Order: sequence, then structure tokens, then C-alpha cells
Amino acid sequence: MNVLIIGAGYVGTTTGLLFAELGHSVTLIDVDGKKINDMQNGKLFFYEPGLDTLLTKHLCTGKISFEIDHQRAIKDNHVIFICVGTPQNQDGSANLNFLREASEFIGSNLIEYKIIVIKSTVPAGTSKQVKQWIEKTKKDPVPFDVLSNPEFLREGSALKDALYPDRIIVGSENEQATSTLQELYMGIDSPFIVTTPSAAELIKYTANSFLATKISFINEIAKLCDKLDINVQDVAKGVGLDSRIGPLFLEAGIGYGGSCFPKDVLALIDTAKKNGTDLSILEKVHDINENQPDYFIKKVKKRLNGLSAKKIAVLGLSFKSQTDDIRQSPSLKIILSLINEGAIIEIHDPVAKLPYNLADIVCQQDSVEETMIQADAVLICTDWPHYRTIDWAVIKNKMKSPVIFDGRNMLNAGEMRSIGYIYEGIGYK
Ligand code: UDX
Ligand code: UDX
Repeated sequence: MNVLIIGAGYVGTTTGLLFAELGHSVTLIDVDGKKINDMQNGKLFFYEPGLDTLLTKHLCTGKISFEIDHQRAIKDNHVIFICVGTPQNQDGSANLNFLREASEFIGSNLIEYKIIVIKSTVPAGTSKQVKQWIEKTKKDPVPFDVLSNPEFLREGSALKDALYPDRIIVGSENEQATSTLQELYMGIDSPFIVTTPSAAELIKYTANSFLATKISFINEIAKLCDKLDINVQDVAKGVGLDSRIGPLFLEAGIGYGGSCFPKDVLALIDTAKKNGTDLSILEKVHDINENQPDYFIKKVKKRLNGLSAKKIAVLGLSFKSQTDDIRQSPSLKIILSLINEGAIIEIHDPVAKLPYNLADIVCQQDSVEETMIQADAVLICTDWPHYRTIDWAVIKNKMKSPVIFDGRNMLNAGEMRSIGYIYEGIGYK
């Protein structure tokens, strides 16, 4: 099948490579010519394990290609996936400007029947809006269908999530178009759920908001654990073994970040408000998450008797491990607070880079060990597995004072103490 992907971002690229792997002919287009140029040369603009290998493979098989002539791209492909970003407006609502541009572009170039699939995360009811945008701009009386097919890809494991999804959700009102999508996903072994486009759109926001709720909930319990001297990991394990709750997304820490959870929680709150109902539970989830980096900083401040002129080694910059994405990273919020408190910061991350506005103020080291030399304290902000295998006994002698604040509860508290560290996690001592 010939598939067009509009928006060669993180989601569009992964989706395109998945379909190429399933044997389809995929064309990618993007308004950003540099991205396309780099990808044509086998270079991805983001770090995602396994994806570069797949890109190289399908540049060779010819299953993936890039089209500069966007009009021809619409003409040549039967199924069109819209994967443009839907960033957050100031008021928390989803910004659909890119989606509108893509829809109008499709509309003005529609000369025969197409299946248009919205992959971008959009509020319930948006597929109707997309239909109207296309209707208004199309010149000929050509039929088309608009379907919703949300993605559930996690950065860092996008390829695995794409190849082995828990489910494929399709919102469709046309059986023929549904069958085409079923054919497109042939080879993927997972439940294929068909529902209305609006329900499909709401499923995506509800899933992300529920996962965010689990995280904020366990972070609140972690604060109680700090007071009661209980290990939150023991609580999470005991609770998570209940199959009705499940063990995942119960890791307490410095809060959730990334390009999805923070914006999707706010967008769902906005949808509820616009429809005359309220989702105050999510407002609380959001507030708890906003305050979680402060909770961490307070611990550090208390233990070090203030932060002014203290040398702090921050391990990890990305919003989670296995990605170089720093969007809404709690680590960045922590670095900004440390700067405000007058601390001297050295930072390490294996792949993520400091944003330009911080590059002059914060020193980024290539070596994790270098980062910690003469430090008054180490703050672990991203759960890179490598931080577990550092020779902490050797590092201890190079630090000014052996204090570790583990914002991801990833080290073994007992072991760290036996080496001689003062160690504090979140709800974990
Ligand atoms: C995706 C989804 O699309 C978003 O709705 C979801 O909530 C998060 O994941 P992502 O792939 O991370 O977004 O976005 P981004 O990396 O910004 O990629 C979007 C791409 O679309 C960019 O490469 C951008 O240049 C391109 N684009 C944008 C177009 O090609 N046309 C446009 O009109 C606008
Ligand atoms: C998320 C969804 O999981 C995915 O299905 C959706 O399509 C896009 O948004 P992603 O943002 O890539 O994926 O990362 P995810 O693994 O969900 O983690 C989000 C944030 O939550 C990270 O900052 C992570 O560190 C944090 N987290 C996750 C916790 O703090 N505790 C946990 O137990 C799990």
C-alpha cells in the first residue's frame, strides 16, 4: 500500500518506519527541509534506539522515501497520515494550527478519494473539524474519509511499542476505510479496536492522563512515606501486584515530563471545561507534578544548609532515559531552581544537550565521573542505567562531601550507605 506521512517528527518518523517494515511504500514529507535532507542521508534529528538502523535499512529497500513536491505526494498516496505536532496553547488547550494547515493542504490538493488518518494527539471531536477544513478547501466534489488512529509510543522504546503495541485503536465511520487500516497493520499481533473517531481521540488523552495520575498519586504517597519512614518502593510493589492496579507507572520521583503527559493532562482539563464539566482530579495531578521538583530541591537545601556557592553535580538532563528529549524535563526545572539559589552546577547526560540559554551558565561534562569531582552533592535526575554501575566507592573520595539525592530512586540505599554516602531518595531512605 502507498502511505504518505505528513510531519516527519518523532511520531511521523516512527510510524513511517513501522509501515515500511510491514512492507508498505512510505513517503514522508515535512515543512522542515533540513530534517528531510538529513533523513535522506540516513541521519535522524533525535535519538531513539533502533530507529536509525531501520531508516538505513529502508532507504536501501526503497520502502521509505522523501518527497519535495508535496502536491505530488498527496496525489500518489492512497492513505495519508497526519502526524504534525499539536503543542500547548498558553491556556492549556491544544494548538491545532499545524493540523489545520495540513488539512487545508490536503483539501486543496484532493483530486481523488483518500483515507486521511489523524495520528496527532487531538481533542475529542477534532476529526469532524478536520473534515470541515478539507471540505472547505477542496475544489472538486471528491469523497474522502477522516479516521482517528492515536499513537501510544513511548520515547526510548518507540520501535518496540510500534511493533508490539498493547492495542491499535481506530476511530472510523466507514467500514471500507477501517478494513484498509486493518490491512495496513497486518503483521502486528494486537487487539484491533474500532470505535468512533471522537472516542478514539478521547482514549488517547484518557490513557495519558490516567498514567500521569498514577505517577502523581505515587508521588503523594512517597511524601507520606518520607514522614513515616517507609520505603515507597515496597508500597508500590505490594500495591502493584494487585492485577486491578498493575505494577507500572508507580515509580515515585521528581515528576513526569516530556512532550505528552504535561500537555495532554492540561488539554483534557480544557476539553472538560469547554464542555461544561470539570476534571478537578487532573488539576490536582498537574499541581502535584509542578511541585515535585520543588519538593526535591527543598530536601537538598535542608540537608546542605542552603545552596549558595555549593557545587552540585546533576546526573541526567532528558525527561527520562533512552532519549535526548529535554521537553518539560523535571531535570531542567531543578537546574533552574539551583541556579536561582546560587549553586554552581555541573551536569552530565549521555545524549541530551543543554538548551542554549543555559549552556553559558551550566558546565556540561562528557564524563560522569568528572562531573562529580569536588561536588558538595550529587542529584540524580534521569534514570540512565549507567548511573547504577558507576564505581561509587571510588567517586566518593573525589567528592567534597559524599551526599546523594536520588530523584529516581534508582540506586540501592543500603549499598550507598555502606560505602559511606548520605543518601536520600523520594519516599526512599
Ligand atoms: C507527536 C504528535 O503529532 C503530537 O500530537 C503528540 O501529542 C506528540 O507526538 P511529535 O512527532 O513529537 O508530535 O512532534 P514534532 O517532533 O514536533 O513533529 C512534527 C513534525 O511535523 C515536525 O517535523 C514539523 O516540521 C512537521 N510539520 C509541522 C509539518 O510537516 N507541517 C506542518 O504544517 C507543521
Ligand atoms: C507517553 C506515553 O507513555 C505514551 O503512550 C504516549 O504515546 C506518549 O506519552 P513518553 O512521554 O515517551 O510516553 O514517556 P513515558 O515513559 O510515559 O514517561 C513519561 C514521564 O513519566 C517521564 O518523565 C518518566 O520519567 C515519568 N515516569 C514514568 C515516572 O515518573 N514514573 C513512572 O513510574 C513512569
